[in-house]
Amino acid sequence: MKTNKNVFASKVGAILAAAGSAVGLGNVWRFPTETGTNGGAAFILIYVLFMLLLGVPIMVTEFAIGRHGGEDVTHAFEKMSGGQRGWRWMGLIPLVSGFLVLSYYAVVAGWTLYYAYEALIGGFSGKSPEDFTNDFVAFSSDSLQPVFWMMIIIILTCGIVALGVQKGIERGARIMMPLLFVFILVLVGCSLALPNASKGLTFLFQPDFSKVNSSVILSAMGQAFFSLSVGLGCLCTYACYFRKDIDLMKDGLSVASIDTLVALLSGLIIFPAVYSIQGLQPDAGPSLVFITLPNVFQQVFGNISWLAYLFSLIFYLLLVMAALTSSISMLEMSAAYFHKNLHLSRPLAAVIVSVVCMLLGTFCSWSFGDWKDVTLFGMGFFDLFDYIVAKLIMPIGGMLMCIFLGWVVDEKVLCAEMTNNGTIKSPLYSTYRFIIRYFAPLCIFLIFANELGLFGFLK
Ligand code: PHE
Repeated sequence: MKTNKNVFASKVGAILAAAGSAVGLGNVWRFPTETGTNGGAAFILIYVLFMLLLGVPIMVTEFAIGRHGGEDVTHAFEKMSGGQRGWRWMGLIPLVSGFLVLSYYAVVAGWTLYYAYEALIGGFSGKSPEDFTNDFVAFSSDSLQPVFWMMIIIILTCGIVALGVQKGIERGARIMMPLLFVFILVLVGCSLALPNASKGLTFLFQPDFSKVNSSVILSAMGQAFFSLSVGLGCLCTYACYFRKDIDLMKDGLSVASIDTLVALLSGLIIFPAVYSIQGLQPDAGPSLVFITLPNVFQQVFGNISWLAYLFSLIFYLLLVMAALTSSISMLEMSAAYFHKNLHLSRPLAAVIVSVVCMLLGTFCSWSFGDWKDVTLFGMGFFDLFDYIVAKLIMPIGGMLMCIFLGWVVDEKVLCAEMTNNGTIKSPLYSTYRFIIRYFAPLCIFLIFANELGLFGFLK
C-alpha cells in the first residue's frame, strides 16, 4: 500500500517533478552545445523527431513500470512481469545509474553555482575576452575549487531528497520550476533585443541538411534521451510516487513539451547573444556557456553595467535551479534503493549516496586538471561517465524497457495501466504499443549498430 507521504500530493506536482527531472543542464547547457557543434536547425529537427517517436514512448513506458511497481522501483520489473524473477536485475539499473550520472553532472552543476556566485559579487565586470577563457580553464582544472562547488550542489540536493517525496521533491519542483520559466522568458526578451539577433534565429530555425551524417543522428538521439532523463529508470522511480488517477500518456506528452520548449527557449537566449558580437561562433562546444556567454554579457551590455550584472546573475541562477531539479531526481534513484531495500531512513540513504557521489565526482572534476592523463578506454573519468550514461545505458536501458513492456508483460496489465483500469480513454494506445514493440527497439538497435560500424561492409 502506498502511504500518503510517499505519493506526489497533486497531479500538477507530479508533472512538475518529472519536468524538473527532465529540464536541466541538458536543456540549457548540453542542448545549445550540441546544436552549435552539430550545425543548428537540421539537428534540432531530428532531435524533435526522436523526442516524439522514441523519447515520449520510453518515458511513458517508465511511468507505467514505476507506477505499477508502487513505491518500490527495485521490484517493479519483477512485479509487472507477473513475478518472473529473471527480470529482477533490471531494478538495479536505477541504482547504478544514479551514482554514475550524479557524479559527473554535479561537477558541471558546481561550475554553474560558482558562476552564479561570481555573477553575484560582480566578478565579471571589466574582464577581457582572454580573461574569461583563462579564468575558466584555471577554475575547472583547479584541484580544490570545483570540487568544493560540486560538493555544495550535492549537499543541497541531499537536503531536499532527505525531506521526502512531498516536502522535498514536490515542493522543490513547485517553487523552482515556475521561477525558472520566469527567468527564461526575461532572458529571451533581452536576448532577442540584441543587435544581429536574427542571425541567431536563422541558425536555430533554417535547416541545412548537408551537415547531417550518422554521428549527428546519434547525437540527436543521445540528446533526446538525456534531455528527457529516459533509459536510466529515473522516471520509473518518480512514477512509483504517482497517484493512480494520473493519465500517463497525457503526462508524458506534457513533460516532453515542457522540456522541448525550455530547450528551444534556451537556444533563443544563447544564439542571438552569440551572434550579437562579430567574430564569435556558435560551435564553441561545452565552454559556450562558461566562456562565450559571460564574455557576450559583458561586451553587449558593457556600458550599462547594471544590466550586464543582472543578466549574468539571472542566467546563472537559472542554470543552478535547472541543475538542482535534475540532480534531485538522480540522487533519489539510488537513495530510494537503500531506503526501500535496506530499510535505512530516507536521510541516511541520501547521505550515503551523496558521500559516494562526492568521491566519484572528485575524480570526474580532476579529469579536467591533475588527472587529465588518467584515462580508461582512452577517456578521462568525466567523459567516461558521460559516455557510459548517455551513449550506453540510456539507449540500451530504453530498448530493454520497451522490450520488457512490449513483449514480456501481459498485454492486459499494460492496457490496464494505460487506461487506469479502463476508467480513461487512451486514444494513442495502439500507436504507443506498436512503437514499443517494434519501432523503438529496432530503431535504437540500427543506430547503435551503425555507430559500432556493423554496416561498414555496405559502403
Ligand atoms: N534530463 C536532465 C537534463 O536535461 C538530466 C538527467 C538525466 C536527469 C538522467 C535525470 C536522469 O539535464
